[in-house]
This record gives sequence, structure tokens and C-alpha cells, in this order.
Amino acid sequence: MNILWISAHPDARSLNGFLTEKGQQYLREAGHSVTTSDLYAMGWNPVVDADSYGHDEAVRLHVATAAKAAHLEDAVAADIRTEQQKLDEADAIILQFPLWWFGMPAILKGWFDRVWHQGYAYGNPGPNGEWVGYGDGFLAGKRAMVVATLGGPEFMYGERGIHGSVDDLLFPLQHGALFYAGAEVLPPFLAFGVDRWTADDADLAAQQLQERLQTITTTQAIPFRTQSSGDYDKFVLRSEVAPEISGLSVHRVSDTGGRR
Ligand SMILES: Cc1cc2nc3c(=O)[nH]c(=O)nc-3n(C[C@H](O)[C@H](O)[C@H](O)COP(=O)(O)O)c2cc1C
Repeated sequence: MNILWISAHPDARSLNGFLTEKGQQYLREAGHSVTTSDLYAMGWNPVVDADSYGHDEAVRLHVATAAKAAHLEDAVAADIRTEQQKLDEADAIILQFPLWWFGMPAILKGWFDRVWHQGYAYGNPGPNGEWVGYGDGFLAGKRAMVVATLGGPEFMYGERGIHGSVDDLLFPLQHGALFYAGAEVLPPFLAFGVDRWTADDADLAAQQLQERLQTITTTQAIPFRTQSSGDYDKFVLRSEVAPEISGLSVHRVSDTGGRR
């Protein structure tokens, strides 16, 4: 497989740098081809502006439509196009980052803001003019997996943990961006409580990450409900689907079997 590994950490000597190195090393040894976007090392510009889409600054910038127009005219900034070419060529995408303020570092958020623009990542109707998303899109047929390190311990990120459920914290990225774009989103690899780790803990995590990567082609994706599953009526979950569940987990087929 051709795997695009996107990482966001300012120092290669960090735990994240170590996991990146070990993860990529394993994939190459397993015969995969690995392309990288190490956003800090690249000096990635995370700020959306008129230049991103060759837009005339004298005219009000409506970001989404300016981006779509630039896409059609091949006027999108070169650094954005390069990332899109890497995405186009990838069979799988790894997104690796330390959790900062319950989300991804700003440099990675800005990668999404600039690269995943209208006309490229969304906003193109299907063959019958239908709205495309949640289970179908430009990443259809590709796999995606989050690799994240967290300072907080796992029990604080459980269903009733004070930080909130980690599935909920990752929902905007895993569901709102990756599944929305059609990717098969694999369960994330999460390393909790890492700020108290020893070198042995880091070695163990690298080994566990390599084990997860062994099954990157076969691991079952998170069973998010597709928009075409019949579970939604005009983009709203039918009242008879999972009536006992509240919160963001309603958008996953329940583990207890069956769609409902
Ligand atoms: C700006 C910043 C914000 C952070 N926010 C969180 C957070 O919201 N939740 C959490 O569990 N840890 C948080 N942490 C801890 C980091 O997740 C942790 O230090 C990191 O995963 C360690 O990986 P590294 O050694 O590769 O930097 C934060 C750290 C920083 C510097």
C-alpha cells in the first residue's frame, strides 16, 4: 500500500517523533511505500488567506467559494496542491499528533483548513446531483487512522471520565472530516498518560503501534452509519434508530449487533 503519514510535532526527539520513526520503519520493512508530511519540518503554513486560492484581495474573500473557483482554474497555492497530490496517491492515511487542548495542534488543523477545501474535499455533487458525504467522497476506498498521544490517563477519557469520552473528542476529526470524506476510519491508536512515561513505556508503545500497523489493510473500520444506510431521514437519524442512545455515539452502529 501507499501510505501517507502526516505528523505534527515540533521536535523529532519527542515521543511523537519516536513513534513516527518506529511506525514508518515498520511499514517500509513490511513492503509498504511511505510518503510523509511532517508539518513542522516542512514549515507548513496553516493560515487560510487570499493567497491560498490566488484570490484578488480587493474583493471580499468568501473562503469556500474562492477555493472552489481556484480549484477549477488550477489556481490553488502550490503547497496545497502538493498535499492533495499526496492524498490522491495514498491508499491509507495516518494522522499523528499530541493531543493539545482536546484537539489536534493548530498546524494540523490549518492543514485541514487549507487542503480540504470546497471543490477538492467536498461540495461536488454525485452523478445524479446528490449530496455526497458520510461514507462516500474523495477518500472512498482509502483507509485512515489517528495515532495520538495524550497527557491524561485513560480512565479520565472514559464514558464518564472528567475529560469526556475520547471517542467524542475525536469525533470532529474521525467523523466530521475523515468519514465525511468517505474514508474507512480505523480505530485510533492512543497512548495515554504519556508525560509520566519511562523509555521502556515508549518502547512498548512503539511495539504496540507496529502491531496495529500489521493489520492496517484488514482491521475493521469504526462502524459509523453512512448517510445512505437508511438510518437517516433527510440527514436526521430516524427516531426508531438507537432510541436508547444519546450523544455522538448514535452515529455508530451499536456493538450489540444489528443496525438499530
Ligand atoms: C499546548 C498543550 C496542550 C495540551 N493539552 C492536552 C489535553 O488537552 N489533554 C491531554 O491529555 N494532554 C494535553 N497535553 C499533554 C500532551 O498531550 C502531551 O504532553 C504529549 O502528548 C506528549 O507527547 P510528546 O512528548 O511527543 O510531546 C497538552 C500539552 C501541551 C503542550
